[in-house]
Amino acid sequence: MKHVVVQGLGFVGAVLATVIASLKKKKYLYSVTGLEQNNTQGLEKIKKMNSGIFPIRSTDPKLKKIFNKAKNNKYFFCTNELNCLEKADIIISTINLDIGGDVNEPTVDLDPLKRNFDLISKKMKPDCLLVVETTVPPGTCSEVLIPIIKKNFKKRNIKSKINLVHSFERVMPGKNYVNSITDFWRVFSASNKKSEKKFRGLYSKIVNIKKYPLMQLKSFTESETTKILENTYRAVNIAFMHEWMKFCYNSKLDINEILKCIRIRPTHSNILSPGLGVGGYCLTKDPLFAVYSNKKIFMHDRNNFDFSKRAILINRSMPKFSIKLINEQYKNFKNKKVALFGATYKEDIDDTRFSPSENIAKELINKKANLFIIDPLLKKWNELPKLKILKNIDISKMDMLVFAVKHNKFKKIDFKRIKRNTIIIDANNCLTKNQIRIIKNKKNKFLSITSNRNND
Ligand SMILES: NC(=O)c1ccc[n+]([C@@H]2O[C@H](COP(=O)([O-])OP(=O)(O)OC[C@H]3O[C@@H](n4cnc5c(N)ncnc54)[C@H](O)[C@@H]3O)[C@@H](O)[C@H]2O)c1
Repeated sequence: MKHVVVQGLGFVGAVLATVIASLKKKKYLYSVTGLEQNNTQGLEKIKKMNSGIFPIRSTDPKLKKIFNKAKNNKYFFCTNELNCLEKADIIISTINLDIGGDVNEPTVDLDPLKRNFDLISKKMKPDCLLVVETTVPPGTCSEVLIPIIKKNFKKRNIKSKINLVHSFERVMPGKNYVNSITDFWRVFSASNKKSEKKFRGLYSKIVNIKKYPLMQLKSFTESETTKILENTYRAVNIAFMHEWMKFCYNSKLDINEILKCIRIRPTHSNILSPGLGVGGYCLTKDPLFAVYSNKKIFMHDRNNFDFSKRAILINRSMPKFSIKLINEQYKNFKNKKVALFGATYKEDIDDTRFSPSENIAKELINKKANLFIIDPLLKKWNELPKLKILKNIDISKMDMLVFAVKHNKFKKIDFKRIKRNTIIIDANNCLTKNQIRIIKNKKNKFLSITSNRNND
């Protein structure tokens, strides 16, 4: 039985470790160790996983099934003890890499990543396959990590070649959480034939390769760039739609109706809908990894990434549009009961990192509103821990309802009991046509960022 260590039990690692531990023919195929940091956050995740609680709340029904299957694998456990690295046949690193600084001079502290790969390469078996799944600035594997591993192999008098693969994640926590690992295209680049073979051996069991064949690129930097470019593409498109959303709003046009007519063209079928803003761990930082890589790893001075930088700035400013709309409703928010529906950065997940809702909540706190946060998936808002999270609320007692996240549960809210002067703001296309119809029949003030044509 081959031994796999999955390092980092965050949104990526927890589900990946679970999927691998659940792989079974007659017997389980892999023994799996989930390795976390020796800090409060890491130890909490270890404790949960080992006591049969998946650390991330998800609406994906498949997750429960697969986690139950993995729990029955008696060779699946989680730890903070590093000696598992010595026995591993495959180590998959899914740790985070954060970004700081401003848009023109982003800073990436590569030290924790370097220390981590220094430690791994001091401990790993010479023929162990090391898979980097962390999103990194292009050039990181070949210019930063390989030299570290080489140095340690030399010190350890290891003559064999380094078995390294870069294969970025496309996981989407939410209702298709598991499928986004198992039934989705996977790109990789390998240091040599042996590492390619080892990688294919494992990932052709993780991924449904009949439908989603593994896609190989020649260099690590191409694989790293693929991830950054695809996320930048999305970030730029979101920013682009924001521009048109503002135009449509100010001109009293319904952008949803306009987009419907554009999507009919096959070449334009995936045009995005505008929304409240961009959040999450990836789209907010990945475009800047290119800016960093360009300047600090490849030392180019000829690429400015003007588009990408502008997109990040526009995306950061997006929630201001909805905030303005909210602010215009009352001169004084003191004692106004405002319910903010949705704290996460996206629907049906429990991730609040860089959530646009945070901007709205902070504004309403500043305005001294009597604020209620409703989020069915969240227990605690890490960025605003003083706020209590409610599962639902009696809307008939509220002065204003702000819908910020398209959680499925919100689509079931019955507006029939709403009081006459409650103002409803849909800041993210959250409500169904039927809900909007009921609100309008009740003659309540309704504002939607996407269809000002119908706003009262
Ligand atoms: N969340 C997503 O939807 C998503 C999608 C695609 C790609 N990614 C990328 O995958 C990577 C991980 O993302 P995430 O959302 O899972 O992050 P996360 O912050 O949720 O998880 C990272 C985990 O790694 C742990 N960790 C950090 N250093 C460690 C170390 N030295 N040893 C052991 N554990 C360590 C942290 O404690 C944390 O639990 C990032 O590079 C991210 O950009 C994330």
